[in-house]
Amino acid sequence: MLSSKPRKRCSSRRTSNLVDTPTSISDKRIVLGVCGGISAYKSAALTSKLAQAGAHVTVLMTEAATRFVTPMTFQSLSGNPVYTSMWEHIESDDPQHIATARDADLVIVAPCTMDCMARLATGRADDVVTLVLSAVDRTKTPVLLAPAMNAVMWAQPATQRNLETLRGDGFAFIGPDEGWQACRAVGAGRMSEPESIFAEAGRLLAE
Ligand SMILES: Cc1cc2nc3c(=O)[nH]c(=O)nc-3n(C[C@H](O)[C@H](O)[C@H](O)COP(=O)(O)O)c2cc1C
Repeated sequence: MLSSKPRKRCSSRRTSNLVDTPTSISDKRIVLGVCGGISAYKSAALTSKLAQAGAHVTVLMTEAATRFVTPMTFQSLSGNPVYTSMWEHIESDDPQHIATARDADLVIVAPCTMDCMARLATGRADDVVTLVLSAVDRTKTPVLLAPAMNAVMWAQPATQRNLETLRGDGFAFIGPDEGWQACRAVGAGRMSEPESIFAEAGRLLAE
């Protein structure tokens, strides 16, 4: 389902370069997939940074992601409709997922859950995030995954196998970092900070 229509922007002037930004991000079309993890709140900050840098940000949320942060938050910060279902065909005569994938300059999935990594590694396309990703030609459009999960989940052989498969399939990765986790443990699996993901996005777009 698409969350309700976005309100008019505060100003008709497109904001750009309000943050310290690689110019490569300005006017780029960035698709941000958000999965269901605690660190979804950090992706709100990432959305804001990208929008302030002049990117056109389209946010896709899995059903699980909407349990952590509301679509309204991403809609407000991006100024664009948020996709929470694959069953909406709007803004284009093409099926939504094809048009969204084709028009993207960069796709980011942050946080990328253990489950989403497994789905991508096995070529599934049964939610709005993996469906759009299934239509992205990674020889032309970089896809950056920012995994986030508990340290034990990250260390699972299945997760590490999926990581290698996805790297081999041409996905780019940032993180996860080591540090404090929401499960009140310290270890590897923390999502990279929005500033780092933003910088990596700029680097990938400049390539
Ligand atoms: C409170 C809570 C926090 C969770 N945090 C994470 C997380 O940080 N990383 C992760 O991979 N899964 C986490 N999960 C599990 C995912 O939400 C679950 O695997 C879900 O099916 C992922 O769906 P998605 O990949 O479609 O977003 C969490 C679950 C709960 C209930």
